[in-house]
Amino acid sequence: MTTLNPAQINQYDSDDMLHLLSGFSEQCKRGWEIGESFKLDRDDGQPPSNIVIAGMGGSGISGDLAKAVIGARSTCPIIVNRGYSVPAFVTAQTLFIAVSYSGNTEETLLSVEQAAAQGANILGVTSGGKLKAFAEAHNLPCVTIPAGQPPRASLGYLLMPILSILDRLRLIPDFNFQSDLDETIDLLAQLAADFQPGITESLPKRLAGTLHGKLPIIYAPQELEAIATRWKGQMNENSKSLAYCSVYPEMNHNEIEGWKHPSALTQRCHVIQLHDPIAPPQTQRRMDITAELIEPHTAGVTAVHSQGSSLLARLLSLVAIGDWTSYYLAILYEQNPTPVERIEELKRRLET
Ligand code: F6R
Repeated sequence: MTTLNPAQINQYDSDDMLHLLSGFSEQCKRGWEIGESFKLDRDDGQPPSNIVIAGMGGSGISGDLAKAVIGARSTCPIIVNRGYSVPAFVTAQTLFIAVSYSGNTEETLLSVEQAAAQGANILGVTSGGKLKAFAEAHNLPCVTIPAGQPPRASLGYLLMPILSILDRLRLIPDFNFQSDLDETIDLLAQLAADFQPGITESLPKRLAGTLHGKLPIIYAPQELEAIATRWKGQMNENSKSLAYCSVYPEMNHNEIEGWKHPSALTQRCHVIQLHDPIAPPQTQRRMDITAELIEPHTAGVTAVHSQGSSLLARLLSLVAIGDWTSYYLAILYEQNPTPVERIEELKRRLET
């Protein structure tokens, strides 16, 4: 296992991703306040027939996480839409939440235009850009969040206003958000303190050392798909590493058989299994048995457990562990975690 030299942090993290990671708890608190102070025109109307959250990458994940937090409590379908077009069921009965940190993401902008044309009730969440301009031009509600940081490091600003507004619209039944939020904010502050570079032994440092030079494969129960997707995305964008994820129980019906070939590759894949009590006991059993069956074909299997008691705290504890792991993995790969040069280059080329 590779170990991390603290001097490398200063050398590679020249844009100070560490500062943003360390402030996740505070950002969640601020994001919630932004949501709470957002003026809703009407919060006593008919509930929507469906909620569509549109966004890509670091913005889209806030939709996955909102859906995961609401989980089985949802009384109407919640769909996360990642792409240019929207389904025909997007109508005047739809609450369509368009999330783009920059406000300039092509797919999100086209989808919100189509949703508006189909009569949906639009809510924007952005720091500015064309999405904000579109909302202003059409007199649509839009939550404005602080600008100037990478979208993926703005999860507290993106997710919390969505949860706060859905809560105020009474779309999250049986939700005691205030106490869940208090617990979450305290836990995230504690994890940030525990995961600081100056602390010699921490879970994210250990995981990064284990994953260095390996292909991370993230497995999670279906109920935690958002978290597995976040881990993958953060390893891609922060660590500049390939990573893959899939979910139980579906992977037991196909992917489990693939753990044989190409053997030179499988032996270089390290599996991370994400655990949380939200998974049905049957899924927990599947995870344990699968680990035994595939382990000989992998570089190793490591279990990572959520912390905290409320679902929100548990989900965000796993997000924090993954974010910090991807950060330390970036440093081990001698990468600056902040720039995403290919994403930017691709967006530039698409504009010409
Ligand atoms: C960059 C990042 C990306 C962006 C994505 C969409 O930090 O996380 O995944 O989030 O390219 O851009 P926005 O979030 O501005 O709509």
